[in-house]
Amino acid sequence: MRHLSVPSIDSAAIFATLRDSNWIPMGTRIIPDPSDASRRLIPIIDTTPQSITNEFPVIEAEQPKPPSQSYRDHLAKYLDDRIISQYSELWPTRHEIIGDLILVKIPEEIMNYQSVIGQAMLHQHTRIRLVLRDDGVAGEYRVRQLIPLAERVNSEFQTHFTTHPETLVQVKESGIKYWTDPSKAYFSGRLSTEREGTISSCFELSKHIGHKLRICDPYAGVGPALVHLLATENLVEFAWGSDLNIDAVELMKLNLKSYPNARIECTDAQKIVENQELVGTFDVLLINIPHSIISHLPKVIPLLKENSPTLLRGWIVIDETDISITQKEIAKMLPEFSTIDISIRRSYSSTQHLCRFEAKLNH
Ligand SMILES: C[S@@+](CC[C@H](N)C(=O)[O-])C[C@H]1O[C@@H](n2cnc3c(N)ncnc32)[C@H](O)[C@@H]1O
Repeated sequence: MRHLSVPSIDSAAIFATLRDSNWIPMGTRIIPDPSDASRRLIPIIDTTPQSITNEFPVIEAEQPKPPSQSYRDHLAKYLDDRIISQYSELWPTRHEIIGDLILVKIPEEIMNYQSVIGQAMLHQHTRIRLVLRDDGVAGEYRVRQLIPLAERVNSEFQTHFTTHPETLVQVKESGIKYWTDPSKAYFSGRLSTEREGTISSCFELSKHIGHKLRICDPYAGVGPALVHLLATENLVEFAWGSDLNIDAVELMKLNLKSYPNARIECTDAQKIVENQELVGTFDVLLINIPHSIISHLPKVIPLLKENSPTLLRGWIVIDETDISITQKEIAKMLPEFSTIDISIRRSYSSTQHLCRFEAKLNH
């Protein structure tokens, strides 16, 4: 590409003049003049008038390649162009980063190239250690099925695994750090805005009733909601966090160890009401069991205080057409004069949505 060699001191002004006349090729930039340290090279289009090119030496030089935008720019290191374009519609366009892990869903048709995808992602994301195929959540504990694809070991990429590589990671969310292990416990970074919303709603309730809150999270996972709530000043008097998955509970204990006002248990949420000391003692109840909420609700609602304003915040997966029926169904389980809002947060499948509901009781 042709460049004008101009004195460094004038380069910005000359560049601006050329750019205003549209004589700079798209996506190019000023580069050093390799033959003279006091000069810089400005790229120009072929039709730049002679009146300009006569003023400065014209030099042929290569523009540096633009930095890669996506892992797909690195597929060519491993694959033929023909294969890359054959599956152009299928290369994954989304992935989730958790700590130094990338979790990516891979369509069946390009499964043969999964380790190439992993390596290309390691090239693109230099702070990532391990890329895993995400086959979705399974079982009662909603743990993701994760298959390792490529791991950065020193400066090499490893693609054969005899043991499952380490997936315990620390995440940082709104300045707060905590541990999770997506191979052992449910975790979604995509729920971080929900956690922020939980704090706002709790603040509102605390202001309304004039004291700090007793909060119950009986499906707490590794405790991401409680980590944020407990770290918020003047909000929580006592927090109960429990889960049925012992691995999640161990991580939650680690995450909440600096809070003496938090009690962590491994227990079935439906059995907490058997402890009479807990019934009717909480101001806030979080219920994050999106596929079984309707059957679980009657067994956890009694944990809320009866004669004081309380808050119930839950997440549920439903068809869009079922939203108003579900809202009525939940309302029937609540005391008279409760208000309930339900809103779509994101799509879950082609017909279903993850919705959040928030009910205000006794307000
Ligand atoms: C969708 S996850 C939510 C986890 C956490 N609240 C979060 O946002 O990361 C549901 C959690 O409920 C737990 N779980 C499933 N059945 C349960 C039960 N009967 N009692 C307590 N926890 C249960 C699972 O182990 C899982 O950690």
